[in-house]
Amino acid sequence: MCGIIGYTGERDAAPLLLAGLQRLEYRGYDSAGIAVLDDGEIAVVKGAGKLSALRDGLEGAYPPGRCGIGHTRWATHGKPTTDNAHPHLDCSGAIVVIHNGIVENYLELRAELKAHGHDLRSETDTEVIPHLIEARMDAGDDLLTALRQTLVRIRGAHAIVAMSKREAGRIVAARAGNAGGVVIGYGDGEMFVSSDLPALLTETQRVAFLSDGEIASITASSVQYVSSAGDRIADKQPQVVPFDPVSAAKGAHKHFMLKEIMEQPECIMDTFRGRAIFDPPGVALESIGLADDVLRRVSRVVLIGMGTSMHAAMLGRTYFERIAGIPAEVDNSSEFRYRRALIGPDTLVVSVAQSGETVDTLEAMADAQRRRAPQLTICNTPGAQSTRIADGVVLTRCGPEVAVASTKTLTASISALYLLACHVGRVRGVLDAARLAERIGALARAPGLVGEVLGLDARVREIANALATHENFLFLARGAQYPMALEGALKLKEVSYIHAEGYPAGEMKHGPIALIDRTMPVVAIALDDGTREKMLSNIEQVRAREGIVVGIVTAGDAELAAKCDFALELPPYEPLLYPLLSAVPMQLLSYHIATKRGCDVDQPRNLAKTVTVE
Ligand code: F6R
Repeated sequence: MCGIIGYTGERDAAPLLLAGLQRLEYRGYDSAGIAVLDDGEIAVVKGAGKLSALRDGLEGAYPPGRCGIGHTRWATHGKPTTDNAHPHLDCSGAIVVIHNGIVENYLELRAELKAHGHDLRSETDTEVIPHLIEARMDAGDDLLTALRQTLVRIRGAHAIVAMSKREAGRIVAARAGNAGGVVIGYGDGEMFVSSDLPALLTETQRVAFLSDGEIASITASSVQYVSSAGDRIADKQPQVVPFDPVSAAKGAHKHFMLKEIMEQPECIMDTFRGRAIFDPPGVALESIGLADDVLRRVSRVVLIGMGTSMHAAMLGRTYFERIAGIPAEVDNSSEFRYRRALIGPDTLVVSVAQSGETVDTLEAMADAQRRRAPQLTICNTPGAQSTRIADGVVLTRCGPEVAVASTKTLTASISALYLLACHVGRVRGVLDAARLAERIGALARAPGLVGEVLGLDARVREIANALATHENFLFLARGAQYPMALEGALKLKEVSYIHAEGYPAGEMKHGPIALIDRTMPVVAIALDDGTREKMLSNIEQVRAREGIVVGIVTAGDAELAAKCDFALELPPYEPLLYPLLSAVPMQLLSYHIATKRGCDVDQPRNLAKTVTVE
């Protein structure tokens, strides 16, 4: 879950590394460090805590040198101290390594290295890597071969970047398993490496992604790719990625989270633009990768994802069943693996992953691949590992999502799943042209309506100010809105550290009702979507126990609004797509409560944007 950056070229490396780390800080922020090679010597600077600690430590005096690597850490083994911060060195200070992943057999390797006289100074698993490389280089290997041989010794999944003063100007990088991506950036007389595409975009949009088992060796003017067996990979070419680096900046907003909430109308529109065809009605998914007869043959759909992406997948289940007429189920990617779901060539597996690098989702996908299930993925990161495992992809076109809490990729993923279900429904003959026209017409209204809902921001802020001191929240909904109740609770927990639970409202009487008293705010999604009457009874039950009701209701529903302590009115909309609207006030509520409580909304404690640890 850590962030990796590397540079070799003609410019001073340190400022470039720090700028890259700044863009990567959302990955992990327990500590950060850089190593720069100059005149045959490696200078290492590290700081515990956020990147600002490292900057403060440098006091503007950047170590000179034109080749360097940097890391921002999310601690797995060893406390977030300066000693445990990456980069890590070998005994002689000649080899320096940064790493993402877990060396599962590090205790055994540490003991072995110590027995051979190596001096290990940190508590980390990573530190064994520079020492293993050292041993190989002492035995005569070059850096690339030494890294390749080291990969044979360490168990687990890894992204590793290393440099050595014995081969000045060279950086080597490896990807083994699904511990996070490695992207090589091609500049003009300079090369970059990173764990994340967005960290490179201000410098270059020409990139190549390492696949599992690939190793790259870069200098300012060359790049060489080899397999883990040491064979040259001659046909790997850079691709030009379309991200606009400007969109990665915060713009006028105080936080990325708010900026990204506000971007949702555009992201939804970009996600269906050119794909929803109005005349004659159709859906054109450019990278669907599965022939129509495969989609006709499958007898069920299994959707997987984690966190917010799983909540989108839950709506995907509704869409596949209601729009495409196929039985569908949804699972948390991690649990999917443990339950050993019965899937095969007749099961369409649809994964949802903003980053495309979440390890549990990648492992679940690999499992589905082994069992020959056709697979599609919904992803926001072109070239991510999930897009390479799946047979086809529907990219959400949100640009980089920088805030750790997902917002715009939720609504874009929901839109993509809806389009996908329309496509599958059409291919299977379940959806005739007229019904399809209605379906895509409804989606086309989403950007305007979400824009309208964003106009509730000031009202949501007032509600947030009134409720920010409460320590527990309940979110209730039914049907298509139930995943949004889960999402509302997740968002609030993540950014404000308030305990929050999302429940199907029908379940309330089976336990959660015991929690309700005058200190408990209950966010009830009670829209005119077929669940209104039953939600009204649930609201009455909350009121009877003096709970504080925040109602998300349909505009004009005066009866329901009158029953709520605070009412947020949404315009009327198509029931299946109403979650695109209801998600927004809950995102804003979490944001405003968190800022009111003084929380770091873009980088909440203990979280990381891309979870590459199981
Ligand atoms: C919630 C959040 C996480 C992610 C989860 C999956 O705000 O950001 O719950 O949704 O870690 O990440 P991806 O979608 O990258 O697989």
